[in-house]
Amino acid sequence: MDYSMRYFRRFLYFSTFLVFIFTSILTLYYGKETFHFETGTVPTQAQGTVPNTHHNNYQHHFVLIPEELDNDYWRLVEQGARDAAKFHNVYLEYLGPKQANTAEHLKTIDMAIAGRVDGIITQGIGEEQFNHLVTKAKEKSIPIVTIDTDAPESERAVYVGTDNYYSGFIAGKAIINDTTGRQHVAIVTGRHDAPHQKLRVQGFMDAIATEKRISVLTVEESNITEIGASEAAHKILKQYPSVTAFYGTSALDGIGIAKVVSNLKAEDNIYIIGFDILSETLEYIENGLIEATVVQFPYQMGYESVERLIQLNEGKELQPLQHTDTKIVHKEDLPLDPATMSGGQQP
Ligand code: BGC
Repeated sequence: MDYSMRYFRRFLYFSTFLVFIFTSILTLYYGKETFHFETGTVPTQAQGTVPNTHHNNYQHHFVLIPEELDNDYWRLVEQGARDAAKFHNVYLEYLGPKQANTAEHLKTIDMAIAGRVDGIITQGIGEEQFNHLVTKAKEKSIPIVTIDTDAPESERAVYVGTDNYYSGFIAGKAIINDTTGRQHVAIVTGRHDAPHQKLRVQGFMDAIATEKRISVLTVEESNITEIGASEAAHKILKQYPSVTAFYGTSALDGIGIAKVVSNLKAEDNIYIIGFDILSETLEYIENGLIEATVVQFPYQMGYESVERLIQLNEGKELQPLQHTDTKIVHKEDLPLDPATMSGGQQP
């Protein structure tokens, strides 16, 4: 190797090292700036924080990190967590990606750890890097509660949320009970690589496995957006004209599918089963466009996860799997009781 090449390589190694040091310092600095405050004080407005000025003597400081900040489903989780936080005098921050984004999600966890908060509630992510972060938090005595999606391979203390395999299984049983004759099903799933979405698909597949008249044509991704679900439904209807049923596995999928099916005036021939009971889904069930939905209890998840973190901070040993309820809702189950409608909030 000639001299200039060796010199260039050294320069390259050195600059990469410098960039690494610089970004680590930034993560630490912003993590501390964003999250750190002494218990009992009101934090100053730092980047991305929403100081809760109603309480001055907080017992704990927790962070809730959703898959997507402004998603209606996650807003219900947030509401539950905020009510529990208010009741127990906890300072709670709700921070994370504006739109589903794993890298940003992981970065938010890392910053919360750097800020030495008293506990983190986060959707579980099926990646090695997530497991490393959970271990890092544990080493710093910051307990992690996974919510909505578990990460059983990580060292998270507790999971609060739906049994996702079971919820997919009951969706499969519902289509068996609700239909007759040959069914060609297309699945629209939030994200192919999200563990809970995979479980919802797997549970469904297992439920219909022995039912010869029902088969699955394809599984497409919506990226958890309504527009993504509509695009997927469009593509499926074009590519598979024999499709007779859709199964949407995240909160906005059923809505996106229903819009396309209704535009084509194909609702009489197509069966749709979705997930969750956001207000638009409810309307579609009322007018018969969506036949059924798998209900979850996001408000309850938020509320309970805060209480579990408090108990972990008190050194209590907890049962790691804390499943919230899940059930199928059809038109004949309407009107729903207010607790189901609001994701588990007691009236
Ligand atoms: C899932 C969440 C997801 C949301 C997307 C829900 O069904 O449980 O993980 O973020 O749908 O809209």
